[in-house]
Amino acid sequence: MPSAARQSPGIFITLEGGEGSGKTTQARRLCACLATHGFTVLRTREPGGTLLAERVRTILLDQHKETIAPETEALLILAARRQHVDHVIKPALAQGKTVVCDRFSDSTMAYQGYGRGLDLRILRTMNHWATGGLVPHLTLLFDVSVPVGLRRRRGQSSTQNRLDREAEQFHGKVRAGFQALAKKEHRRIITIDASSSIESVERTVEGLVTNWLNTHRFPKPHRR
Ligand code: TMP
Repeated sequence: MPSAARQSPGIFITLEGGEGSGKTTQARRLCACLATHGFTVLRTREPGGTLLAERVRTILLDQHKETIAPETEALLILAARRQHVDHVIKPALAQGKTVVCDRFSDSTMAYQGYGRGLDLRILRTMNHWATGGLVPHLTLLFDVSVPVGLRRRRGQSSTQNRLDREAEQFHGKVRAGFQALAKKEHRRIITIDASSSIESVERTVEGLVTNWLNTHRFPKPHRR
């Protein structure tokens, strides 16, 4: 397989989902769980993960007087991704770490592709270029209806960003996009119903990841 993740000793897990899907909380809890089982874990996020990429994140999520073209948005995200992959993700995987990343390439397909309407084929090629072919071993997709997700998110008004404020219709397209990606890549992407309580979703995640680790080729060398 062409993916760099598949050639390195580490494990690369990504968490994806729309606004208010609870993936950030679950990322934190999953890392704690993996650490208690002896994995050396690195938790990171996109856009972000390096000093420069976090600065790009601020540009992307802040409101600006100047409108941002969908293409500009995609290019900024991809620039941040390259920086993140080269400086953080690939070195950690090479050291045998388990990298848990809050969003990655699937978000670009869902938000900039299905949501903004950019050409999916071009985005796929550019994602490949930005990541050097790095594909997660496992992706957990936290699926929740748009009204529930936005209600959760808008309840935390201080954390609303430029993308949160997009119309419900946009978020509907993003959700449909994630669902289409999960259907297409059903071996890699596992969908989790994120509508229940944090604890209930956490139990589901733990069960799924434990089972996945046991059925894939990740035995002792990846554990401390
Ligand atoms: P979040 O990580 O707190 O959910 O916020 C990140 C925002 O950035 C979210 O609205 C989705 C957006 N985003 C994209 O539009 N494309 C991408 O490729 C990534 C990684 C994030």
